[in-house]
Amino acid sequence: MNKKIGLITGLVLGAGLISLALLKRYRRIQSEGLAWQKLRRPSLDILACPDCRGTLIILPISGGEAYHCLACQKDYPVVDGIPRFVQPQEMTGLNKRFSEMYDWFSWGYRIFSKIAFAYIGMSEEQARREVTDRLEPKGGRVLEVSIGPGVNLPYLLGRMDVGEIFGLDISPGQLNRCREYVAHHGWDVQLQLGNAEHLPYQDDAFDGVFHLGGINFFNDKKMAIEEMIRVARPGSRILICDENEKGAQAYERFLPSFKRMAGESREVIEPPMDLVPLEMQEVRVFNVWKGWMYCIEFRKP
Ligand SMILES: C[S@@+](CC[C@H](N)C(=O)[O-])C[C@H]1O[C@@H](n2cnc3c(N)ncnc32)[C@H](O)[C@@H]1O
Ligand SMILES: [Zn+2]
Repeated sequence: MNKKIGLITGLVLGAGLISLALLKRYRRIQSEGLAWQKLRRPSLDILACPDCRGTLIILPISGGEAYHCLACQKDYPVVDGIPRFVQPQEMTGLNKRFSEMYDWFSWGYRIFSKIAFAYIGMSEEQARREVTDRLEPKGGRVLEVSIGPGVNLPYLLGRMDVGEIFGLDISPGQLNRCREYVAHHGWDVQLQLGNAEHLPYQDDAFDGVFHLGGINFFNDKKMAIEEMIRVARPGSRILICDENEKGAQAYERFLPSFKRMAGESREVIEPPMDLVPLEMQEVRVFNVWKGWMYCIEFRKP
């Protein structure tokens, strides 16, 4: 009887302690999030309507504010400091499938990345710098398309040649993790929820644009590449990287859900060089991450 009471008391105490720790964490995330929102700038000189590229203004709406397009009159609400330039109900095909998968998987994404780097025999820092060091923003603004939970940020933020940083992703789950991460560190990074195929930025707005992981399974790779080019300033470097066939086969071996998501009879992965417009300069394609990823690099003329 005494043992039973001891066990129940232990369980109740344990549950209480866990609840307290969770409550403390929740409160910390809330207060860091509010402090980060104060760093958010309207960026009206950089953002544009993703549907019609029209000029945006900020309007108060019930419970907050929204970006409003003066041309097509569409409203894009700001939720917890992140403007939502795509709504879940507008997503279709692979974009919808992967956005939902990443919403769910965002809890484990960082750990999964670390395990993957250990498997290929590189430190995460080495691997991420292998790509991000190729950007040449010369003190200007950088955009990461499909920023995920912000895993590349530590390798951009300390750089003297990187100015403002913007990050976009289609998955609210991934972006919420990213917001928690940047808010925790007090980093000044502007985040937008959006689709890479319809970027919510003005033409020529960035001095470096990169995408790392994702494009293989976008609905429209061509449109995404054209959009990255459109928002890059002439003379700036653009990097587009994703897993190659060897990398995709490894995912399929270790993550059965990847096979389901990509489709049982997916096409063999080739770097989409045919979608890079002929007028781009210094076009190169090469493998990174010990041969598991391809990287397409070029300069906008
Ligand atoms: C493999 S993760 C890459 C995250 C990060 N860039 C990294 O280096 O680890 C792929 C990301 O692409 C995003 N994504 C998928 N489809 C997208 C789309 N159409 N537009 C923008 N982001 C998209 C996913 O939500 C996910 O966060
Ligand atoms: Zn518009």
